Amino acid sequence: MRNPIIVALDVPAAATALDLAWELAPVVGAFKIGSELFTSAGPDIVRQIRATGAQVFLDLKFHDIPNTVAKAVAAATRLEVQMLTIHTGGGLEMMRAAEESAQQTALHSGRNAPLVLGVTVLTSMDSQALSQVGNEADVGRQVERLATLAVKAGLRGLVCSPLEITALRQILPAKVQLVTPGIRTGAEKPDDQKRTLTPRQALEAGANWLVIGRPIYAATNPRAAVEGILADLST
Ligand code: C5P
Repeated sequence: MRNPIIVALDVPAAATALDLAWELAPVVGAFKIGSELFTSAGPDIVRQIRATGAQVFLDLKFHDIPNTVAKAVAAATRLEVQMLTIHTGGGLEMMRAAEESAQQTALHSGRNAPLVLGVTVLTSMDSQALSQVGNEADVGRQVERLATLAVKAGLRGLVCSPLEITALRQILPAKVQLVTPGIRTGAEKPDDQKRTLTPRQALEAGANWLVIGRPIYAATNPRAAVEGILADLST
């Protein structure tokens, strides 16, 4: 089985991220670099993490006009990231431009095209917050609407919360990759993630990749935490 664990490097400093990456690269599938680390450390952090032999998921959630997003996706493709995120709320043309840019840049530079992942409704948004910005108030329906539009635009993957996996699996083609944060093993102290699944539950529900942050990087022994999850998944 391919290693489904993506460790979120939600740490502010490049040095801390690199220490973690060198320690964990042999036992995980990829590392997620988000806005905080990318903004403080710059694109070099992607190259440095790639130097550990690991794959990178660049989670900058691009949301702009199609031309600008296409150029940002091209730049990320040249950084050789394996996955990146865009907001599906940017619309059909923007998503098409992003996917096209990933494919064309990869073709012309002899690289692999990254998996362009659509972000639907942020899990911080509830029905009141959705109505305030003029959207369908039913979060589930809005997620399904945006996910369907993303697939129509040619996207091959989506980020979704653990509780959306089952509903999305029913309406999306089986080949669409689902990347899921909100994973907890049950061994951690409670935190701000309220709606969680264990790694096994998420994979059984139909997730392809698990984004896991604090249960790994905040553990006393991060490598042992990863190995514990892998051992549990292989039984
Ligand atoms: O520490 P934790 O396991 O909660 O980290 C989860 C990661 O996934 C964080 O980088 C967080 O920003 C991201 N994420 C999330 N929920 C979403 C989308 C992304 O927790 N809906």
